[in-house]
Amino acid sequence: MNRSEAQKPARATPATFHVKSFGCQMNVYDGERMAEMLGAQGMTAAEGNEADLVILNTCHIREKAVDKVYSDIGRLGREDGTRPMIAVAGCVAQAEGSEISRRARSVDIVVGPQAYHRLPDLIEKAGRGEEAVDTDMPLASKFGALPKRTRQARPTAFLTIMEGCDKFCTYCVVPYTRGAEISRSWSAILDEAKALVDGGVREITLLGQNVNAWTGADAAGRNQGMGGLVRALADMTGLERIRYTTSHPNDMSDDLIAAHGEVDKLMPFLHLPVQSGNDRILKAMNRSHSADSYLRIIERVRAVRPDIALSGDFIVGFPGETDAEFEDTLKIVEQVGYAQCYSFKYSPRPGTPAADMEGQIAPEVMDERLARLQALLNRQQADFNAATVGRRTQILLERKGRHPGQLIGKTPWLQSVHVVTDLNIGDMVEVDIISAGPNSLAGETVRRKAA
Ligand code: 5AD
Ligand code: SF4
Repeated sequence: MNRSEAQKPARATPATFHVKSFGCQMNVYDGERMAEMLGAQGMTAAEGNEADLVILNTCHIREKAVDKVYSDIGRLGREDGTRPMIAVAGCVAQAEGSEISRRARSVDIVVGPQAYHRLPDLIEKAGRGEEAVDTDMPLASKFGALPKRTRQARPTAFLTIMEGCDKFCTYCVVPYTRGAEISRSWSAILDEAKALVDGGVREITLLGQNVNAWTGADAAGRNQGMGGLVRALADMTGLERIRYTTSHPNDMSDDLIAAHGEVDKLMPFLHLPVQSGNDRILKAMNRSHSADSYLRIIERVRAVRPDIALSGDFIVGFPGETDAEFEDTLKIVEQVGYAQCYSFKYSPRPGTPAADMEGQIAPEVMDERLARLQALLNRQQADFNAATVGRRTQILLERKGRHPGQLIGKTPWLQSVHVVTDLNIGDMVEVDIISAGPNSLAGETVRRKAA
C-alpha cells in the first residue's frame, strides 16, 4: 500500500472517550486502566458513539467475538454521517494487526494488550491522519507507564498480577495474543492493592490467564507463589475479601491450597477449568493433567475448605471427541458438583494446532452436546443456590438493584443476593438467605429483622 492510501484526513484531538470491553476480566481490567489513563490526560468519559474516541477492547478467544467486533465497528457511524475516532484494542488487535484497518477503513488505531500505555501517542498520530498501529510486546511492562489507580466507583476491583500463558493448550489463542507468562512484582502488586483500598475498594480479584502460576520475590527477597501473595494481601487493613481467577490445575501449589484453609479473607470460591473429563481429549488438548489428577486437587481443596464453591470451563466438540468421550465430561461434572460454570462449543482458532486436527465435529453434534452439558450445569447451579437458603452469611453490597431501596451484594461463594436495606454500597452486611433462583438469591438483613 502506498502512503497516500494509508493517509487519512487529519481530525481534531478527541476530548471525550468511551471504552467498550469484550471477553474476559483481564480485558475489563485493561479497559479500566485505559479509561484512567485517558482521564489523567484530561479527557472525559462519554456514552457510545457520541464520544470523540471509541475504543473497542476486543476478545479473540472464540469466533463470534471477532465477528462482533466488525459489526460493532460498522455501527459506530452517527446519524449526521460523522463517526468517532475508532481504536481497536485487545486480543483481536494483537492477532490481526493492521489487517483490521485494511478490512475496516474507519478504524484509526490498532493497539495490542501489551501496548495500550502508548494510546496517547497513537491518538496523536491518528489525529494527524497517519496509520497508528502498535502490537508490540515491549519488554518493559506497560504497568510502569500507567498512572496510579484512582478512587473506584465500586467496592470491588480487578488487579492483574500476571499476564500471558506458557501452557499452549492446542485450542487456545491466548499464548499468541497475550504472549509468555510474566508475573508483576510483589511491590507493584501490593502498591496497586493499597491504592485501590485507599480508594474505597474492599474486595480485590487477582487476575491472570494462569493467575496461580504467579511467582515473585517478597520484600525480603524470598521466593513466593500465589499462596504467599494472598497471605500478604490478607494483612492489608481495609481489604476484606480476596479472590483470584483463572487458575490452571497444574499450578495449584500445596501452599495455595493451604491458604484456602488458613486465610479467612480468601473467599471460598475456586474457578479451576478442566475443559474435558476424558484423558485422551485432555492429552490432545495438551492440558498435561488427567481427569483423575484434577479430581484429586479438588479433594485436597475440599479437605481444607469444605464449603468451597467450584467453578470451571468446558469445551465440547474438540476435534475427534466421540460420544463416549463427551460422556466422560458429563461424568466429571457429576463427580465434582459445580456451583457455576462456563461451557463452550469448540471454535477453531487460526494458527492453533487443534484447528488443523482431523475429526472436526459437526455443528449439530456440538449443539446437542452443549445443550446436554448446560442442562446438567444449570441443574447443579440451581441446587447449589437452593442449598444456601436458610443460611446466614456476609454479603458485600456492590450495586443498586432494580427496585427502590434494593441493593445487590455477593456471598463469599460469589452468588448475587438482592436485599432491601438502608445500608450503603461498600458495606459488608449479615443476611439470612430466604430464597433462591437459578441465578441469584434473596436475603434479609439480620439487623433489619431484629429491629
Ligand atoms: N474454543 C472454545 N472455547 C475455548 N476456550 C478457549 N479457547 C477456546 C476455543 N478455541 C475456552 C476455554 C477457556 C475459556 C477462557 O475459553 O474453556 O478456559
Ligand atoms: Fe489458553 Fe490453556 Fe493458557 Fe488457559 S491455560 S490461557 S486455555 S493456553
